[in-house]
Amino acid sequence: MNNNKLFGQNSDVISRRQFLQSAGVGSLGIMAGAFLPLLNPAAKASDQNKLVETGFLPDLDIELKATPGEVPIFPGKPTSVWQYKAKVHKGDSNRLIELPRSYLGPIIKANQGEKIRIRFKNQIPDESIVHWHGLHVPAIMDGHPRYVVPQGQTYLYEFEVKNRAGTYWYHPHPHGRTGPQVYGGLAGLFIVSDDEEKAAGLPSGEYDIPLVIQDRSFDIDNQLVYLSGHMMERMNGFLGDLILVNGNPDFILPVATRAYRLRILNGSNSRIYKLGWKDGSPLTVIGTDGGLLEKPVYRRYVMLGPAERVELWADFSRYPVGTETALVSLPVDTGMMGGARSGGRMGRGMMGGGRMSGNQSLPNGAGFPIFRVHVNHKDKTTLSLPERLSTIERYRATDSVNLRYPRTFGLSMRHMTWTINGRTFRMEEVATDEKVRMDSLEVWEFINEGGGMGMMGMMNMPHPIHLHGKQFQVLERHSVMHEGYIDVGWKDTVLLMPGERIKILVHFGDYPGLFLYHCHNLEHEDMGMMRNYLIESAVTST
Ligand code: C2O
Ligand code: CU
Ligand code: CU
Repeated sequence: MNNNKLFGQNSDVISRRQFLQSAGVGSLGIMAGAFLPLLNPAAKASDQNKLVETGFLPDLDIELKATPGEVPIFPGKPTSVWQYKAKVHKGDSNRLIELPRSYLGPIIKANQGEKIRIRFKNQIPDESIVHWHGLHVPAIMDGHPRYVVPQGQTYLYEFEVKNRAGTYWYHPHPHGRTGPQVYGGLAGLFIVSDDEEKAAGLPSGEYDIPLVIQDRSFDIDNQLVYLSGHMMERMNGFLGDLILVNGNPDFILPVATRAYRLRILNGSNSRIYKLGWKDGSPLTVIGTDGGLLEKPVYRRYVMLGPAERVELWADFSRYPVGTETALVSLPVDTGMMGGARSGGRMGRGMMGGGRMSGNQSLPNGAGFPIFRVHVNHKDKTTLSLPERLSTIERYRATDSVNLRYPRTFGLSMRHMTWTINGRTFRMEEVATDEKVRMDSLEVWEFINEGGGMGMMGMMNMPHPIHLHGKQFQVLERHSVMHEGYIDVGWKDTVLLMPGERIKILVHFGDYPGLFLYHCHNLEHEDMGMMRNYLIESAVTST
């Protein structure tokens, strides 16, 4: 029903609200049995306001609403979207940066150590909640799906920004509805700055460029088309046939002959990108999900799964004015049935090409340009790439409590659905092997087992795995891609191609409670490739 309102093409999936109503369960009822008194299932938004720490004095107090809207993406009819709109109640109004002609929410800018209050108002005809992807916040502020609010209600967030400088983001997190809501336009960047970053001497202001890459499909009336309802489409994840950057197709970045900082987010539902420069020059990588690396690294390409971020230093000073180059996605075999390469199909919905409907015209792993760069004027500013960008304190594997017996999480298909250790999401459920001690350092191992029989044979898929609430470090990776992963920085999402396995080091500090870990292919997440983990403080554990 909600799909009908927003998307141009009908889906035969029953909406979650309809399902809950027919099952006689209110949307708030699913919180029943919450184990923390604060999480009273009957709590209304107004009660939640009272629950929050009194005397919280925000440095930045904003109202953020999710609302239906219209944006001009193509000539002619505007596109109906859902979007985040924000305004500053208290604090510096320059902390909200609107992206021109975009459905994306404003960039929220904050400094480490600041206190932020966000009054989220849900005005879309669907339940929703906001998650601060990559931020380290208390469980009740993290946007767990059990906190969803219906249309017309608010949810109050108050937290201190504890993260280091970096490119984080926010998006909805209602269970089963994250894919369509993000696809409909709900997402924005949350950029944190700190003193170390300011001292690094990187390009700033207009030379610090956010780039959110997403794929979308449109019908002939310029309206978004989501899943057709075909089962295989949900198994694979949604793939659009047009690449948008900051909400714009055929995105062109005009630059001067100088250095830029590019902050790239893969905001797509399921598409992975193998980033490279069109002319084959190496990428200079300066940052990942959790901020700056210690020093720059050079790569011929970088794999970027959904929700991952990478920051590049891009110096155009060696190009003559008039040069045109592009950031491209190189062809890659995703291991899916018939793979992009073996199928020999290249994307047709490419830049400058026609728009077409049908989600498989640009297969995952196809090669295509992402955005073009026009070097259009001279600038004598010379900035040199800093040798040292930041300090990263390395966890020591030997300090972990389970180095010899890591928690292992197998990613596989069971009974026609994607699972983690054979399990799917249940709102309140935490298994024994999903409980961790607060203040402990652990090794978690994820294994992309691939396999599993799909309707049409073996299903192998990339899975971008994300942990809520924590930035972590990669301990080791058994990779089939060999190059292209930036595992030396702080991460909150890691991409696992079929057959790959990874060990990460996570420290469960500060905030006890229930957090999520999941595949960030949003269709996989919505079908339940998501689980809770519980951080037990010494007091509450038995
Ligand atoms: Cu960006 Cu639980 O997700
Ligand atoms: Cu997250
Ligand atoms: Cu997945």
